[in-house]
Amino acid sequence: MKKRSLRDLPAQALEGRRALVREDLNVPLKDGKVTDDSRLRAAVPTLQYLREHGARVIVLSHLGRPKGAPDPKYSLQQIVRDLERVLGATVEFIPDPAQGVAATRRLPRGGVALVENTRFVPGEEENDPKLAATFAALGDFYVNDAFGSAHRAHASTEAIAHLLKPAVAGFLMEKELKYLGDALEHPKRPFVAVLGGAKISGKIDVIDALLPKCDEVLIGGAMACTFFAALGFEVGTSLVERDKVPLAKELLRRSGPKLILPRGAVIAPGLERVAQAREVSADQVPAGWAVYDIDSVTRADFHARLLKAKTIVWNGPMGVFETPPFDAGTRAVAEALVAAGQKGAVTIVGGGDSAAAVAGLEDKFSHVSTGGGASLEFLEGKVLPGVAALEDA
Ligand code: 3PG
Repeated sequence: MKKRSLRDLPAQALEGRRALVREDLNVPLKDGKVTDDSRLRAAVPTLQYLREHGARVIVLSHLGRPKGAPDPKYSLQQIVRDLERVLGATVEFIPDPAQGVAATRRLPRGGVALVENTRFVPGEEENDPKLAATFAALGDFYVNDAFGSAHRAHASTEAIAHLLKPAVAGFLMEKELKYLGDALEHPKRPFVAVLGGAKISGKIDVIDALLPKCDEVLIGGAMACTFFAALGFEVGTSLVERDKVPLAKELLRRSGPKLILPRGAVIAPGLERVAQAREVSADQVPAGWAVYDIDSVTRADFHARLLKAKTIVWNGPMGVFETPPFDAGTRAVAEALVAAGQKGAVTIVGGGDSAAAVAGLEDKFSHVSTGGGASLEFLEGKVLPGVAALEDA
């Protein structure tokens, strides 16, 4: 269902009004410093549009997973300077949403305020309507731009949309839903998905949902080892989810030739013993060794398949990409997507680890999602509560 957009609101609905905007500013921090500002930059078009239209902009977000109480480690105060940098504007900080109404009324037209972490208050994760009302008092209308949090039914993403109207989608939310939605609903074919990452358990439903829609589903990452085990191969000390082996067998049986497993792997006796890393075919992993990446034969195979594709969705690294040389498979898939994109394919990178793996190359893909869990749930075909609660177009 298409949702009402910020773009649909007339100028007089914005001018001088308090726009309460839920963003996903859940950025990685190290020693209090933002280490990847992609989510801040992704929020800019919506915030800037509102400022240019004379709105007073009040931003809500969570950061990390505090336990419903203030915790300085997760204070949004730490990101204020970075938000100011990407916006080119000063940002006022509102430490307590329950005491924040006066500050929102004092904001000048085009001014921006950031409210402290929504998860510092009990009730956020319980989708408490009382807390949603506290948040709602901070604005005159609601914009949900937090695609990355749209799979959470929380007070600031779900309950609030029933209380504060108009409740519309921001530009990032719209863009995410358009790219992912178009890929699923009317992909240009061939449509190929590449799925990696450590755990098959988090991806089974995605594989299941994508198999009927895709022409091929390429599997990499440690998750491939659970499929190897299902085929009866020796997998050494590789990460295998033993309890998922029957499910992997069932998927192999049902998927036919669409499910493409790695032909071989880069293995080592341990992650720290990179000097001993070597390539073997998938059924030749010796006892005591573990799979850490896809091998060069698989890289070439995946590259060829991806170059034929017209729509590609990629989620999850092909190996332990943080530890070279086990990043080669993930880099090869990134390069294949770029090459396919240059030939006219629509290339979509899911959030989370795969977005981190292509950091700095974002403009070489059609779309890099800001949502990890949210993009997976969307690909599974689940309803995202933060989207469902918005007004229909
Ligand atoms: C994310 O990083 O995937 C989102 O910000 C959601 O965070 P959560 O998994 O802590 O709800």
